[in-house]
Amino acid sequence: MQAQFITLDGIDGAGKSTNLAVIRQWFERRNLPVLFTREPGGTPVGETLRDILLNPATKAGLRTETLLMFAARCQHIEDVILPALARGVHVVSDRFTDATFAYQGGGRGVPLEDIAVLENWVQGSLRPDLTVLLDVPLEISMQRIAKSREKDRFEQEEAAFFTRVRDVYLNRAAAAPERYALVDSSKSPEEVKNAIESLLDKHFAV
Ligand code: TMP
Repeated sequence: MQAQFITLDGIDGAGKSTNLAVIRQWFERRNLPVLFTREPGGTPVGETLRDILLNPATKAGLRTETLLMFAARCQHIEDVILPALARGVHVVSDRFTDATFAYQGGGRGVPLEDIAVLENWVQGSLRPDLTVLLDVPLEISMQRIAKSREKDRFEQEEAAFFTRVRDVYLNRAAAAPERYALVDSSKSPEEVKNAIESLLDKHFAV
């Protein structure tokens, strides 16, 4: 099997951090070569752009924000993702382009066709082999965000924003069920862990 490009995505408060640990342990147990990375970020340029993008003091228009996300992604793909996959190392990215469709498209209102143009330009044919989409009702995600320490620029958005973000994620997953594994992360941590482990078992068994 070729090295796999796996992404983990979902609205803020969907439980990404906890479940990244589940994925990490799954790879460790299997002793498979894997690289964990994140977006925006993953390279020095990307991490600098991340600081700008998440800083509540940043005033960026919706197109600027979209371009900065793709600028970070472009460097990430060239310096990290493609070289790892070429070496036969699986890549797990904490967020990828689905987040741009959901947040900048759904949340901010950037036309999804414009994001698709940038996706094609920056990524060429690169698309995730598998996207694990964590989904929770807004009430739960908003409660989890409320408990978190300082809120970043996106976490400060209101419920209506996250409803639009979530809708785009769910629409994308419904439109391409072969690529997305939708995980209901409102269930107990044990159930979510089991769901993620079995979907990885299934993906890597093919
Ligand atoms: P996180 O690392 O806690 O998920 O924070 C990243 C934030 O950036 C999160 O609120 C989602 C947002 N984001 C976008 O708006 N567009 C994107 O393309 C990506 C990768 C993240």
